[in-house]
Amino acid sequence: MQTVLLSNTEHDRKRFDCGVDALNNYLKVIANQQSKRDNTRTFVLECEADHSQIVGFYTLTMATIDLGALPNKLQTKHRHSTSAGLIARLAVDKHFKGQGVGEWLLVDALKKLLSASDTVGFPLVVVDAKAGVEAFYQKYGFTAFADEPNKLFMTIADIRESFK
Ligand SMILES: CC(C)(COP(=O)(O)OP(=O)(O)OC[C@H]1O[C@@H](n2cnc3c(N)ncnc32)[C@H](O)[C@@H]1OP(=O)(O)O)[C@@H](O)C(=O)NCCC(=O)NCCS
Repeated sequence: MQTVLLSNTEHDRKRFDCGVDALNNYLKVIANQQSKRDNTRTFVLECEADHSQIVGFYTLTMATIDLGALPNKLQTKHRHSTSAGLIARLAVDKHFKGQGVGEWLLVDALKKLLSASDTVGFPLVVVDAKAGVEAFYQKYGFTAFADEPNKLFMTIADIRESFK
């Protein structure tokens, strides 16, 4: 299995339904525009039987770090850093939920961000979780920011360690 960049012509974005309208609409209307402008990159996992069908997707970009919301030790360690990799969106089509696809997509996204950090250097990965989905990310090592329980982070050092 591998993710590919979302394509306007090859992927049937209208068919995708993760049960959250905001995420469906993002994929249908916004994801390609944002990618064309180099603001984000959206990767999709295609259905093996029909490559136009999107099983799941995630969107990556960068975010600024809110240093004050990090634990003291990390504030000191990263006080000269301003950027984090951001998993801005991640969703699985209803028909494929509960089969490990969300986990696979998260791992794939983290591998891409870890690889990017080898070149440009940033200390954290941040996710904006929808309400009720925080536990999904916590399961894989993310910690909620003190001031925003829906926003979680994981250090690149911990991500690197988890892939050893
Ligand atoms: C959240 C989502 C990505 C999970 O995808 P999935 O393919 O169903 O998840 P997986 O089958 O890979 O589950 C992996 C593990 O996470 C757990 N999990 C799944 N959804 C969860 C949730 N909402 N909260 C907590 N844990 C969750 C599963 O129980 C499983 O744990 P287990 O291995 O101990 O059984 C998917 O339900 C989804 O797209 N939801 C709608 C969109 C959304 O809310 N996206 C998140 C935006 S930040």
